[in-house]
Order: sequence, then C-alpha cells, then structure tokens
Amino acid sequence: MNPTIRRSIGIISSLLLGIGGLFALQAANTENPPQTDDRERLPSPQQAAPAKLSDAEQHRPGILPDRVILTWQTDPSRSQAVTWRTDVSVQSPQLQFAEATPNKSFLKAVQTRLPTSTRFTSDLGEALYHSVNLVGLKPSTKYVYRLGDGVHFTEWYQFQTASDKPEPFRFIYFGDAQNELKDHWSRVIRQSIFDAPNVRFFLHAGDLIDYGTSDRQWGEWFRAGAWLNATIPSIVTPGNHEYTGSSKRFTTADGPSWLPRIRTSRLTPHWRTQFALPENGPLGLEETTYFIDYQGVRFVSLNSNERIEEQAQWLDQILQSNPMRWTILTFHHPIISPAKARDNPKVRAAWQPIIDKHRVDLVLQGHDHTYSRSGLILSQNVASGAQYRNGDRGTVYCVSVSGPKMYALNVQPWMQSSAEGKQLYQVISIDGDRLHYEAKTILGETYDVFELRKSGDRNVLLEREDLLADVAKKESERNRAIAAVGLLFALVGIAFGISQTRRGT
Ligand SMILES: [Fe+2]
Repeated sequence: MNPTIRRSIGIISSLLLGIGGLFALQAANTENPPQTDDRERLPSPQQAAPAKLSDAEQHRPGILPDRVILTWQTDPSRSQAVTWRTDVSVQSPQLQFAEATPNKSFLKAVQTRLPTSTRFTSDLGEALYHSVNLVGLKPSTKYVYRLGDGVHFTEWYQFQTASDKPEPFRFIYFGDAQNELKDHWSRVIRQSIFDAPNVRFFLHAGDLIDYGTSDRQWGEWFRAGAWLNATIPSIVTPGNHEYTGSSKRFTTADGPSWLPRIRTSRLTPHWRTQFALPENGPLGLEETTYFIDYQGVRFVSLNSNERIEEQAQWLDQILQSNPMRWTILTFHHPIISPAKARDNPKVRAAWQPIIDKHRVDLVLQGHDHTYSRSGLILSQNVASGAQYRNGDRGTVYCVSVSGPKMYALNVQPWMQSSAEGKQLYQVISIDGDRLHYEAKTILGETYDVFELRKSGDRNVLLEREDLLADVAKKESERNRAIAAVGLLFALVGIAFGISQTRRGT
C-alpha cells in the first residue's frame, strides 16, 4: 500500500479510537456516578450542631506536657527555668537537656533533671505543674531540652543563653493581652515573631488575662504563644487582672462566661505556679517585684498593685548599685495615664522621683488599652499628669495594648505618639549606646519609632524625622567619601599620565 495512504489510515484509526474512548468514559461516568462520601460528610442544614465541649474538656491536662514556658529565676547567661503542666497521673516527670549540636549527636550527652512538682487545683480541675531551673549553663550557648515522663516526651526545644557581656540584642514588649486571647491576641504574638524572629525574650506589662483564676483564659494565653513560649523566654509583671479573686460562672446569651466573685486583691495562684521568676525583690513580693540583668541592661519588674511605697525604697537601692549601662522598668499602672478619666497618683508620687533620680531610660506599661509614648520627661517640670512637657532630659514612658479591648484616648501635649483602637507590639533593640524602639501594628506596619542615644550623663532622643535626617546625613557623607576617593584616583591617574608623557619626550 502507498505509505501516505497507510499513514492517513493510521491517523484516522487513532482519532476514531480516541473519540470511542471518550464516549466510553462518559457512559461509565453516567453508570457509576462519583462516590458521595465527601458530600455526605458535609453538614446539612437539618443536622444538629456538634455538642460544645466544656472548658474543662478543652483545657484538660494530659500525660504529654503542655503550657511549657521559659522564664528566668537567676542569671540569664548561666541559667534557664522551664515550667510545664501535666495531668496528675504522671509519676516520673523529667526534663532532659544537652548542649545543642548541628545534628542529633547531642543525644550522646543528654542529662536528666527532676522537677519540683506542685499539685494545683484550678476552677477547671486538678493538674500538676513542674519546674526545673537549669543552672551552670555556658553563656551565649544554644541548648536543647525535652519534657516527659520517661516514656512519652515532647519534641526537642532549643533556646540560647544570654551573653555575660553587654552585647546587642532585641526583645518584644506587649501591653495588655487580656481579652479574646485565642481569637484575637494569637495574631499579635505570631505576627511579632515573624517580624522579629531573633528576639531574645518577650516582655508582658501585665493583664495577660481577664480573670486571674480562669484556667480557660490561661489555657488560651498559652495556646496563643504555643511553642514560642518553650523557645523564647518571657519576662512578666502582674496587672490588676492577675489580682482578681475567685471566679464565678454565669451564662449570657453568648454562652458561659466568668465573673470575679470578690476582688480580694490577692495574686492569682496561677502566677507563681506557672512562672518561675526571680525572688530578689522585697519579702512577700517574690516573683512580682524583681530585676534581671541581660547583656548590659537592668530590667526591673515592679508590682503596681500593692505596697507601692515599700517598693520605692527597694527600687532606690537596686538602682543605686546598678552596674548596667541601660535601665528599663516595667509595671502595669501608668505613671501618666493616656486614657480618659484614669490616673494613678500614688504610683506616680512614689516611683517617679526614684525614676528621675537614677535616670531610668525607658518605662514600659499597660492598663489603659490605648497607645502613648512620651519624649524625655522629669517629674519636676510638671504640675499634674495632664501638664507634662517634654524636655532635654528624663525618661521615656510608653503605654501599649496588644489585645483587642480598647479605651478612648485622651490626647495630651506630652505625647510624642499616640493611638486609639490599635493592637500593637513593640520591637526594642539595644546596641552599645543606642536603644532603637519600633511600635508595630498587628499587620506588621511601623506605627511609631524613636531612638535613644547615650551622650555623657544624658540621653539624646531622636524622633522619626531625626532618624531620617541622620540616615540622609550618613548617606551624604558616604557619597562625599566615595567622590573624594574617585577624585584622588583621577588625580593620581593624571599625574601618572603627565609623568609618562614627560619621560617620553
Ligand atoms: Fe489593667
């Protein structure tokens, strides 16, 4: 047969086979419609909604550790405290740790530490809280650890000890988280760590939860931070909401909720059970009033809920003997309130003179569910909170909020920056004589920025426009230097050319 005719017959046969196949497939699909398993799983409007899990069911402890958190009880360059929770059936709680290696060869050098365990009864039931303070660690070193009962373990978490020298670092500061922690605060802590992944710790300025004795709310706070809390340490100071009394369940149209039965002004027992913090403060205020020195900065937590004047004396003492270049204070109730109809005159009267006396650099506060940031402020240049004015010496005061509850802002002349209705976090970096501060929105956008630079016995405050001018100045200096070097080379080239020409003639 002619090869062209044979090829044509082949093509036509293939086409017919293909068309036949398509018809066959269509027929098969008609006879065997797709399995409807997936469709059947979708809820139909007639089906009842699933039964709601109780708070106790949603936050029940288990054999595997949860609510894992790193804090410091002692020197951050040589120690690391770890606290976690299990159910009461766990018989052999333990922590395993080793110096981290680039692979899993650290497994050959694992050591075990047994925790101090506390049986704790919350409004949702019983649990065990376990705590180990790892001591004798090396500065600036990465370690791995895991938690378990000898049979079941968590993943290996990793952390890094501080340097024992003043080296650059950064941390994140959060104002009140407090409300709707699972739904709306989780976004903030997670965004913050994407934005600043190499921070050394989180600092929470009080009111982490709404009702101090609500185990559901603590459960939500821990779940929002999840494994971040097991990897990045936290410094926490108590707010008034950590001082609520026992809670009472009540039901609204939106479902079950909680109210404090009595405001007892007692620190919630959750606090000291789940946070292992320094006990270097006044007697009776352990783990709420304390200081931690971190790479050239003294961080001081004050408890603004009680015994205010007594803490002023203690603050005076520990700042008198402060060898650190920088001093940052955190407490909950603001020295100068940015919200309408709120003021804390007792805290201001007792603490601000000490803050002035020791030239504290920065004060990080919460409580007022707005944002405000001062310039350099001293107490003697004011008559009252509303009449503060910024000067060329003093302390920068910040109030921020990271949770979704918002109050009305009372705009005042001392505010260099302020905001209402914004969930914020702050990334603060310290490098030698410079402290750089950025307040960021929940979207990761910079809302406020300033820098403090040490100059002799005082700080110079650079606002956003100063920083931009500084960058432009440096750029201009760099360009001038490049131009000068270029000119030098050109002159050398010309001189060389002339000398060669003369030699030739
Ligand atoms: Fe508060």
